[in-house]
Amino acid sequence: MTRTLCTLAAGLLAGLSLPAEAQDAVTGRKVFGGSCAVCHGTTPGEKKMGPSLFGVVGRKAGSAEGFRFSRALAKDGRSWNPKRLEAFLANPRKEIPGTRMAYAGLRNAEQRKALVAYLATLK
Ligand code: HEC
Repeated sequence: MTRTLCTLAAGLLAGLSLPAEAQDAVTGRKVFGGSCAVCHGTTPGEKKMGPSLFGVVGRKAGSAEGFRFSRALAKDGRSWNPKRLEAFLANPRKEIPGTRMAYAGLRNAEQRKALVAYLATLK
């Protein structure tokens, strides 16, 4: 993963134009570093205040191993797809009433999209 991002970053520095999704992932990584990394790790099983987000896209909500989720998330049972993640990140408590994630929401739609593109690379 880190290697992929380095390659992407090197491409950017070299002035190559990247496909839109790859550019999003680079932007998304910055957003993640500023807003999410304090509570979320990106390697399997890494536990901070929140669960690891490794492999989160396509994973069943509330199923990260070794993490004690709120009832709301644990019983949700649906999978995280990009659309749902964007909705959750826009307003966590609206998408999952009762979640313990203490995050007000990311208003900027471009940044949300970029963030989800980055999350999709965590696998
Ligand atoms: C203050 C700490 C905190 C911050 C900041 C935070 N989170 Fe969370 N996050 C949590 C906690 C705690 C949970 C578990 C919530 C629950 O059990 O209801 C969670 C859950 C999640 C989940 C569900 C995971 C799963 O396996 O179902 C996703 C996705 C997520 N966070 C993404 C993000 C992203 C992306 C950001 C940055 C915009 C972010 N979070 C910011 C603490 C945080």
